[in-house]
Amino acid sequence: MHLHVVDHPLIAHKLTVLRDERTDSSRFRLLTEELVMLLAYEATRGIRIEDKLVNTPVSEFTGTALSNPRPVVVPILRAGLGMLEGLIRMLPTAEVGFLGMVRDEETLEATTYAERLPADLQGRQIFVIDPMLATGGTLVMAIDFLLERGASEVTAICLVSAPEGVARIEETYAGRAEVTVYTAALDERLDENGYIVPGLGDAGDRMYG
Ligand code: PRP
Repeated sequence: MHLHVVDHPLIAHKLTVLRDERTDSSRFRLLTEELVMLLAYEATRGIRIEDKLVNTPVSEFTGTALSNPRPVVVPILRAGLGMLEGLIRMLPTAEVGFLGMVRDEETLEATTYAERLPADLQGRQIFVIDPMLATGGTLVMAIDFLLERGASEVTAICLVSAPEGVARIEETYAGRAEVTVYTAALDERLDENGYIVPGLGDAGDRMYG
């Protein structure tokens, strides 16, 4: 498993506004889209490509195209939905699947309540999007599900992650090069309620509450 904490001043600036409790829902959603576009630049570095021949007005040119099968983007509902628009703007040919997952706020255990994924995930490159990686329970459940369905690579893109959640992903997927996490920030800790500190609160509520 590879972890990348994306260090960029524009990302740090936008994330700071996102964390600010005074930021309202519409601005929160807009910033989330912008952040995922910036993160996508790094997180898609390993995207599969192939040669593509085109004719410029002057000559032939062998350039680059994304390979088939197309990459798959999977937002984890609800909060991951806020990252979808930004990512598919960068990957307009991606196929999109959905996972609805919710964490029980008492036990902190995740459960899946909805699943609508492409029928064939065999050998596919998948980008999972969820703003928050807290205990890691949700992301482990999502990654396991996608790997069991045959995905060959799973890259998670998160905005804010807790060390506890990152440790859980690292332990679960130790030595598994096909699992990668990109996060805009690695925060201090989880509090007694399983909230990321300093975090940004409940991303789902701040977007859609
Ligand atoms: C949040 C977040 C992640 C999950 C992280 O979703 O968007 O999916 O919690 O927690 P974990 O790492 O401890 O599993 P939530 O369950 O609040 O659902 P929502 O997006 O519908 O608000």
